[in-house]
Amino acid sequence: MIAVVAAVIASLVAVLIRWLPESASEEMDRITFVYWFATIICIGIFALVAAVIIEAVWAFRVQPDDDTDGPPIHGNTRLEIAWTIVPAILVIAIGVVSAVVLSKNADAGSNPLHVKVFAQQFAWKFEYPGKVMSDELVMPLHRNVKFEMQSADVIHSLWIPQMGQKQDVVPGITTEIVITPTRTGTFTLICTELCGLGHATMRAPVRVLDQPAFQAWLAKQRSAGGAGGATSGAAGGQTGGATSDTSALGKTTFASAGCGGCHTFTPAGTDAQVGPDLDNLAADAKAAGEPVADYVRQSIVDPNAVIAKGYQPNVMPPTFGDTLKPDELDALVAYLSGKGAS
Ligand code: CUA
Repeated sequence: MIAVVAAVIASLVAVLIRWLPESASEEMDRITFVYWFATIICIGIFALVAAVIIEAVWAFRVQPDDDTDGPPIHGNTRLEIAWTIVPAILVIAIGVVSAVVLSKNADAGSNPLHVKVFAQQFAWKFEYPGKVMSDELVMPLHRNVKFEMQSADVIHSLWIPQMGQKQDVVPGITTEIVITPTRTGTFTLICTELCGLGHATMRAPVRVLDQPAFQAWLAKQRSAGGAGGATSGAAGGQTGGATSDTSALGKTTFASAGCGGCHTFTPAGTDAQVGPDLDNLAADAKAAGEPVADYVRQSIVDPNAVIAKGYQPNVMPPTFGDTLKPDELDALVAYLSGKGAS
């Protein structure tokens, strides 16, 4: 009776609380199966142990004025064999089920979509076949997506809660993970390895599209990339075209370099507070006694040269001078300095 009550209580706790997000991938379905497989075993063990403890405490409690010793007990061979073999079988069963799921979840099938993932403090970038770069992770429905992941600095970790799979991104090696989406929708990719001050802001939007919509998205990204972002130049004159190109490149560079992960900048619609507020650059440049554009360029390429009041050195990665192309850097400086930002 006690065991039944304990099992019912434990089952209610397991079922009524939503411990896991609603699955959105084949891998998550398998992980959820392992979770319930182990949980059901745990509920059974819990019920048995709770029943034995409560019954023993009640039935063998001391009587009033009973100062005698209990009877000497020297073990029980049958009981000891049972409580060794039964848990061993259960643990082996959980191990086998987990191993099968791990191996199935690592199998990318014969025709996966390959997506390269680049992680750096504090942003994610994704590369699709045909050198298509994106700040947003877009995945096709019901297709194995194989991620090949690299880090530019420290250890990060890729996790989309509804997709279950989680894998570290480690500098110096390429790690892999497979995700097969089972429903369309929008999700969030979260960095789950403490990687610095901006760790909590290191997120990326995720969209799962059905296959035709995904192909259309990929084709659109390809044509946009192929045109070099010069699509806006045709209508204007020589000068007007060049200015709006620079402005557009500044804006896309701000997004692709992940500036918004740490900085507030109203024209880009970002409000993070890890690093200095970029809406105040004119005042900061004045305080440093430099023209705005020079101050901005220096702060990007050599972030420790001038540290804004209230902030720490060595938080901003010093690598942007190497990773940004010269025209991207020029455009970003112009964008942040307020030139051509309209
Ligand atoms: Cu990257 Cu935490």
